[in-house]
Amino acid sequence: MNVDLSGQVAIVTGGSRGIGRGIAKVLARNGATCIVTGRNEQRLKEVETTLQAFEPSCRAAVLHVENLEEVEAFAKGIYGDLGRIDILVNNAGITDDQLLLRMKEEQWDRVIETNLKGVFNCTKAVARYMLKKKYGRIVNISSVIALMGNPGQANYAASKAGMIGFTKAVARELARKQITANAIAPGYIQTDMTEKMEERAKEGILSLIPQGRLGSVEDVANAVLFLVSDAASYITGHVLNVSGGLYI
Ligand SMILES: NC(=O)c1ccc[n+]([C@@H]2O[C@H](COP(=O)([O-])OP(=O)(O)OC[C@H]3O[C@@H](n4cnc5c(N)ncnc54)[C@H](OP(=O)(O)O)[C@@H]3O)[C@@H](O)[C@H]2O)c1
Repeated sequence: MNVDLSGQVAIVTGGSRGIGRGIAKVLARNGATCIVTGRNEQRLKEVETTLQAFEPSCRAAVLHVENLEEVEAFAKGIYGDLGRIDILVNNAGITDDQLLLRMKEEQWDRVIETNLKGVFNCTKAVARYMLKKKYGRIVNISSVIALMGNPGQANYAASKAGMIGFTKAVARELARKQITANAIAPGYIQTDMTEKMEERAKEGILSLIPQGRLGSVEDVANAVLFLVSDAASYITGHVLNVSGGLYI
């Protein structure tokens, strides 16, 4: 699928690797000025170079999504420099798995702060600029775990389910201003996050995926590209599963 995003400014959080990097590449390849954020400067620099080969105006920046003040200053800076923010992909996320009775309060807080508060912070900071232009596309990267649950992931499942409720509320709030908000629920995608799973767990999961394979970052990136395109202008408040049939 090719979409003309030239002239549009897109922010992709957690774009220093994995799914976020894949999404940023696809958006930049289709002409967007892509701003990727993350925490690791070295990795961000590498992604910036890759993206600039597609679209020279792309850049990367360190941004801790859980810090509202930092996020607001960042969004203000981008709007000040580039005069618009058309697309926000809330992708930054972490896991910190543990069975409920062993889960420490810090594990719960850290996952909720990054995955859910981070989405609130970035959406709040960016929506004000989308409202000024009466246009915007917000895509939140949730997970099938929000819909299915998973032992050892009560914190992660709650954060990702919270994102879905948040997406639906925001979609209703912003719909009149031609701003859409949708969520993508990926299944198991081949990245660092799934790489650290035990081999036995991976095999067990593969047997549950009707398509019989893990997803690729491009599988998710292509869904994002569709949701930010004009073809999806009447789609808002939707949750799109990209899971090879894991969640049907
Ligand atoms: N992989 C899967 O199977 C899968 C399935 C469903 C949903 N997802 C969701 O998809 C998203 C991306 O997953 P992934 O597999 O690509 O993960 P990943 O490879 O672990 O990458 C996570 C990204 O998030 C960034 N990040 C983490 N904490 C951050 C924070 N506090 N502030 C700013 N950036 C932060 C990381 O930045 P640094 O590297 O710079 O630290 C990195 O760019 C996550 O939201 C995840 O929950 C993944």
